[in-house]
Amino acid sequence: MIEIKNVSKSFGNHKVLEDVSFTVENGEIAGYVGLNGAGKTTTIRIAVGVLPPDNGDAIIDGISVTKEKKRASERIGWVPELPIFETDFKVIDYFLYIAGYYGISVDSAKRLAKEKLEMLELGNALNMKLAALSQGMKKRFALAVSLINDPPNFIFDEVLNGLDPQGIVFFRELALKFKSQGKAVLFSSHILSEVQGIADKVVFIHKGKILGVYKMNEIADIAKPAIILKVDKVNESLYVLKEFGKAEVRGESIALLDPSASTGEIVKALLEHGINVLELKQEEKGLEEFFFRLIKDGGN
Ligand SMILES: Nc1ncnc2c1ncn2[C@@H]1O[C@H](COP(=O)(O)OP(=O)(O)O)[C@@H](O)[C@H]1O
Ligand SMILES: [Mg+2]
Repeated sequence: MIEIKNVSKSFGNHKVLEDVSFTVENGEIAGYVGLNGAGKTTTIRIAVGVLPPDNGDAIIDGISVTKEKKRASERIGWVPELPIFETDFKVIDYFLYIAGYYGISVDSAKRLAKEKLEMLELGNALNMKLAALSQGMKKRFALAVSLINDPPNFIFDEVLNGLDPQGIVFFRELALKFKSQGKAVLFSSHILSEVQGIADKVVFIHKGKILGVYKMNEIADIAKPAIILKVDKVNESLYVLKEFGKAEVRGESIALLDPSASTGEIVKALLEHGINVLELKQEEKGLEEFFFRLIKDGGN
């Protein structure tokens, strides 16, 4: 279980995270979604213990990252957004070194190296220097290393970025496998649709603040199509429209969310009540739009 508790962080005068809190339960995949620069990677670096927060804490299976960094970080694996392995270490040697850190015997470590590195298609790169790996290979290597001790919690930071379709399928299936094993999985992305189909819930972050946490089915509900109307009598029309779905005022327009009748029937009903429809358009609301609406409603 991953608990982010009231985390704040500034770089100089720049407040990057402000009182960020959310939880990822065991056996749950949480999407962590926000625009570039929202603060996802900073949160994640704090959660895994490579960056100290100014305030707040990350709690991994009940262990405080700020108080017991080693114990906490052993319980959480991660694939960084941009893995940096600027070292002359060879792939195999670095893997064995980390395995040694976890107290795994040399023989077992070698077996594990063969298994994990081959599974991640790094079998031919064992003697390559880490610094010479491509970005995609570095991601897979970061994953291989974090699989050594089979941690019960896992974070993927923009892991699908720049991957080919095969790579995308691989990481999505891995996240689902971790979920089925009861791990807590956090999956960050600046593209909401990337977490669709795998996430149980989505934590939205914008300019360092959490906008909300939504179950995937709630997002789907809210993201259903809407009819946008301009009418001459707003209050009367709300009374009529509520028979057809959730009506809300948006500026000079009214949005009727997930309407239960056809556009024609709705206009007819309004006319029958003496309300003129001045403008009407159908809005096909995708998840991306839902996200941007959240940002707008967040007042930023
Ligand atoms: N080490 C750092 N020093 C200064 N500013 C940073 C540093 N790391 C991140 N930032 C800034 O913090 C903000 C959030 O960045 P980041 O957490 O990487 O966002 P995201 O992962 O959501 O794209 C950005 O404005 C970024 O420029
Ligand atoms: Mg990032």
